[in-house]
Amino acid sequence: TEFATAHELADLMGINAKEIIQRCFTLGKFVTINQRLDKETIELIALEFGFEAEFVSEVEATDVEHLEDNPEDMEIRPPVVTIMGHVDHGKTSLLDYIRRSNVVAGESGGITQHIGAYEVTLENGRSITFLDTPGHEAFTAMRARGAQVTDIVVLVVAADDSVMPQTIEAINHSKAAEVPIVVAINKVDKPEANTEKIRSQLSEAGVLVEDWGGEYQCQEISAKQGTGVEELMEKVLMEAEIRELKANYAEEVNARGIIVESELDKGKGVVSTVLVQRGYLKVGDPFVSGNTMGRVRALMDERGKRVKKAGPSQPVRVLGFEDLPQSGDEFVVMASDKEAREVAQKRQIIRREHEFRRSTRVKLDSIARQI
Ligand code: GTP
Ligand code: MG
Repeated sequence: TEFATAHELADLMGINAKEIIQRCFTLGKFVTINQRLDKETIELIALEFGFEAEFVSEVEATDVEHLEDNPEDMEIRPPVVTIMGHVDHGKTSLLDYIRRSNVVAGESGGITQHIGAYEVTLENGRSITFLDTPGHEAFTAMRARGAQVTDIVVLVVAADDSVMPQTIEAINHSKAAEVPIVVAINKVDKPEANTEKIRSQLSEAGVLVEDWGGEYQCQEISAKQGTGVEELMEKVLMEAEIRELKANYAEEVNARGIIVESELDKGKGVVSTVLVQRGYLKVGDPFVSGNTMGRVRALMDERGKRVKKAGPSQPVRVLGFEDLPQSGDEFVVMASDKEAREVAQKRQIIRREHEFRRSTRVKLDSIARQI
């Protein structure tokens, strides 16, 4: 609970609200039973009664979690992959190559618009979803919000260069998040490519590749010419198989997902890319996401084509948000518009109080400094 009232706090600790009001009084604070207490007061009071206060965000405070998944509904889902690596080592080139070589026949127009996630179906019929987020920001931002979206990191290192600061950063991020890494040593078409040097530098950075007796799968590729890319995808799928990634595919469960990115389109309003993680998201579904809500007005794939529903590991563009959600926000389908609105409103109230308190605090600080 965040900024509980004296009454709510008393309930939580199993004591009488009067006792809290009295303690506040001895602390020099006059509070009424339904007044929300500030963070410091809650901490102090809780401590006095032998509790430790834990503060959670407004989203957690109004957690809409979640019916248990029925084990029978759990099926293998495609892996979600993020490509990471140092500037210019070939992340975009690799993604472009994968996209180009796996465009479904008849859709040769290709994908012109940038979208933050897309699904590729390989010749063997299996799919991989790629998150194409600029830099590592989204990865870290999502992780900071507790959203684990990436199953596997493909770490691109250019063989004509070296293991660089952002390579190390990517390794550290992945390890901290306990996300497995598959190494792609890129640009092997270049005469100056030195793949053994890269393997050696990687081992110094704590990534000992398989061909050197380590546990990390590694593939030499040329993102430009396409050599090795198919083998790389095989290795990614092998990694996914080991992890036995599953999701709830039941038609009737309320869908859930994560916001990958959002934008405000002049004509369409809020357009947000949602990565579905559970169930099928359908047109007409009411939902909450972060502090906002809505009802799915339309769903589109990465080519802008309308679709009726989207299932696990599928990224989909969603129309129908009242307001802009943030990357990493959870997206949860609710039973009704009414329920969705209730949760969103509660979150907005808590958020506003939060902001109000913060701004009053800042004001007091600056007045004090002026004196
Ligand atoms: P940032 O997004 O800026 O971090 O770079 P990036 O990692 O996306 O690299 P990008 O794919 O833009 O490639 C950088 C340069 O390397 C481009 O000029 C590519 O054409 C070139 N390049 C990428 N892959 C290869 C490759 O396999 N062989 C050769 N010869 N050049 C490549
Ligand atoms: Mg790029």
